[in-house]
Amino acid sequence: MPSSAPTSSTHTPPRHVAIIMDGNGRWAKARLLPRVMGHRAGVAAVRTTVRAAADLGIEYLTLYGFSSENWKRPVTEVNDLMGLLRLFIHDDLEELHASGVEIRIIGAKTHLAGDIIELMEHAQARTRGNTKLKLVIAFNYGGQDEIVEAARRIAEDTAAGKIVPQAVDRELFITYLATAGIPDPDLVIRTSGERRLSNFLIWQTAYSEFVFTDTLWPDFTKAHLVAALDEFKSRDRRFGGVSMTAGART
Ligand code: IPE
Ligand code: IPE
Ligand code: MG
Repeated sequence: MPSSAPTSSTHTPPRHVAIIMDGNGRWAKARLLPRVMGHRAGVAAVRTTVRAAADLGIEYLTLYGFSSENWKRPVTEVNDLMGLLRLFIHDDLEELHASGVEIRIIGAKTHLAGDIIELMEHAQARTRGNTKLKLVIAFNYGGQDEIVEAARRIAEDTAAGKIVPQAVDRELFITYLATAGIPDPDLVIRTSGERRLSNFLIWQTAYSEFVFTDTLWPDFTKAHLVAALDEFKSRDRRFGGVSMTAGART
């Protein structure tokens, strides 16, 4: 049996919650507003959710902010999303730091403007070592690219003689992923009624629980997060083993 397989943890609160923040565009459309207004309202929901996660004792919160496929959107919308990331870091970094949030950004640097890369590096350096909440922002992130990149780096290290092919196993592989050192998400929430991963953490969610809500991301509140945590509590996580719940043991 692989040593990494954890045992059942039905009533253990999730250490790591990951959210696919979807529905900003539909939220704006319903109000006859331009899509950018939905994205702005989405940033407000990010603020609320980060605070709520810290209050609720969640250790890791990962937010999907921009996928590697979101470049397919009109250039004006892409620019709006880039601008909002800039604004978020400018406006919120000090408060996040003061409240003990450590920021880590995962995703590719390709196609990102130089000033965004600098801001990301600054945010990570400024908050390094904070322990209240680890906030992971997936930006210009794609799970397939992440896995290919890990394979490419392993091939390079093998060719350079740093590792032998026999040493490549699951434990080594995950150290090459962008999420190295971060536990896999226990719970993935997707808003807006869509029920797909859209290339989000495809390796890391092998045994995650999923909660889908029709709520559009800008309407997401602490109460929605609490409801998702309650739903998570009712799940029986077996990880391929047998149920550890009292009823099933009898
Ligand atoms: C999520 O909202 C934000 C990002 C993908 C960046 P959408 O912009 O996807 O909103 P919908 O899905 O069009 O409603
Ligand atoms: C996923 O949402 C990406 C983010 C939330 C950042 P999308 O709206 O881009 O996903 P699809 O296109 O509906 O699959
Ligand atoms: Mg969407």
